[in-house]
Amino acid sequence: MKRIEDYVISIPDFPEPGIIFRDITGILRDADGLKLSIDKIQEMLEGVEFDAVLGLESRGFIFGMPIAYNLHKAFIPVRKKGKLPRETVSAKYDLEYGTAEIEIHKEDLRPGMKVVIIDDLIATGGTVEAAVKLAESLGAEVVKIAFVMELAGLKGRERLAGYDVESVITYEGK
Ligand code: PRP
Ligand code: MG
Repeated sequence: MKRIEDYVISIPDFPEPGIIFRDITGILRDADGLKLSIDKIQEMLEGVEFDAVLGLESRGFIFGMPIAYNLHKAFIPVRKKGKLPRETVSAKYDLEYGTAEIEIHKEDLRPGMKVVIIDDLIATGGTVEAAVKLAESLGAEVVKIAFVMELAGLKGRERLAGYDVESVITYEGK
């Protein structure tokens, strides 16, 4: 029986020298890998009461959507700036070079809603931290944050102190 880490393809020096890219398409291209990854995230949500999955564009959509469908919950996309047609709230976050911005439809979250945030990866934690800010600015409560992979060496988890954070696989490096 293969483990989920057996499906991740590690590519050295991509996108730049010294970085090991952890490629999730190795999970997705195998029916067993895909099922295992969704099942593992779903196990993390056992006993968690929530109303909606927030999926972070774009790789967070891949893993968030089947979970929402399976558990009969809503799916709310957190998108990169400029894609959502209705009124949005947005949050900036830092990239290695420059900044990025994500947004969510303002009317899609209401005060008191309980949400689970799902993404493929936590690296520096900048993306997910911005998503938490967006959800909370609209009065939602983030009851769980789930990742397929965590790069522990980048200490992204430190930005999520006080939240219930879980990753299927943890890599000790960066
Ligand atoms: C990647 C990854 C996470 C984020 C993690 O997304 O999918 O969302 O970076 O990095 P961080 O913890 O340092 O913020 P990316 O923005 O590269 O785009 P994609 O999901 O659209 O491929
Ligand atoms: Mg992403």
